[in-house]
Amino acid sequence: MKFSPDSPKKEIDELLSVIEKHSIQGIICSNLTKQRVFEKIKDDFVPEKGGLSGKIVEDLATEEVRYVYKKTKGKYIIIGCGGIFSAEDAYKKIKAGASLVQMITGMIFEGPQIVGEINRALAELLLKDGYENISQAVGADFKI
Ligand SMILES: Cc1cc2nc3c(=O)[nH]c(=O)nc-3n(C[C@H](O)[C@H](O)[C@H](O)COP(=O)(O)O)c2cc1C
Repeated sequence: MKFSPDSPKKEIDELLSVIEKHSIQGIICSNLTKQRVFEKIKDDFVPEKGGLSGKIVEDLATEEVRYVYKKTKGKYIIIGCGGIFSAEDAYKKIKAGASLVQMITGMIFEGPQIVGEINRALAELLLKDGYENISQAVGADFKI
């Protein structure tokens, strides 16, 4: 199931109560945003309609990961997606509760080698924080 980053918490709660009744293992947070927060947009041209990806969706998606993780207490696999361009960005999603991450815009701008670069730098970030694997860091923001 993939959530919009623009859904209010009440709607997320309703969606979670529906998916509980079905065989759903994972939730992707999140899809594109329809909010046009122009201070966060560096491009000269922004289409009037349609969803936006990349940095504009990053914090919305991370907060949604955090909310869903806290609410569902590890019941679902959460895939963090939105504005990931670096290992630090991926790590933020993991610590908020994502056990997988997904990226599209970052790969378009940086190229396919970014995946290997993120994996290597992520291993260093985990080591620096004393983790032996990614699983230990999932939801770390809640364990402090
Ligand atoms: C060109 C493009 C096409 C997309 N098509 C779909 C789609 O068909 N279905 C979908 O659920 N999300 C689609 N998305 C949303 C992405 O899967 C992702 O949720 C969103 O772009 C945020 O991640 P990002 O910032 O890493 O791109 C698309 C995104 C882009 C940029």
